[in-house]
Amino acid sequence: MIIRDATIADWTAIYPFFHSIVDAGETYAYPDGLGQDDARALWMETPPGRTVVAVDDGGTVLGSAKMGPNRPGRGSHIATASFMVSPSAQGQGVGRALGAHVVNWGRTAGYDGMQFNAVVETNAAAVALWTSLGFTVLATVPGAFDHASLGKVGLHVMFQSYSAGR
Ligand SMILES: CC(C)(COP(=O)(O)OP(=O)(O)OC[C@H]1O[C@@H](n2cnc3c(N)ncnc32)[C@H](O)[C@@H]1OP(=O)(O)O)[C@@H](O)C(=O)NCCC(=O)NCCS
Repeated sequence: MIIRDATIADWTAIYPFFHSIVDAGETYAYPDGLGQDDARALWMETPPGRTVVAVDDGGTVLGSAKMGPNRPGRGSHIATASFMVSPSAQGQGVGRALGAHVVNWGRTAGYDGMQFNAVVETNAAAVALWTSLGFTVLATVPGAFDHASLGKVGLHVMFQSYSAGR
């Protein structure tokens, strides 16, 4: 598996799992039923942001991550990122590889830290993975996510500092 910058040609491979993950209603607060163009505008970053894909040896796109400044202007020294692994490829280390890539990008690009704004508290795999990569839960907004089967659950704000020890 390699991780490389996504091209617009990758979008046709990303959109099916973007669509199924969002419509499952368990992990992302994006609108249901987003069409190709609206979804692409949300996921395919432009500089200084980046979108990457994890690709297997045969060229199949297994997952994707996007990253960039969390806020514009005076908030732009803190990065953020989002991740989606195709359901058929989950549980095989793709998310961990994407997470490690993104953490390394944020550090080497000179950000002071990385913030995840909305990690669903019941998303055990994501919370465990981000914690193992050095993030901590700063706060949980109660009931902020309307989970498709569990109802209103909390959203974690998770953060990792890069500036300590610089
Ligand atoms: C969350 C997601 C990115 C993780 O990617 P993945 O490829 O499935 O994860 P990995 O196979 O790399 O596993 C990551 C770790 O999570 C652990 N994990 C998986 N399910 C878990 C669970 N239910 N509870 C605790 N840990 C779990 C794995 O054991 C693994 O740990 P390890 O590397 O120490 O063995 C992926 O499942 C996904 O895209 N989910 C839908 C969208 C989403 O939730 N995005 C993140 C929003 S914050």
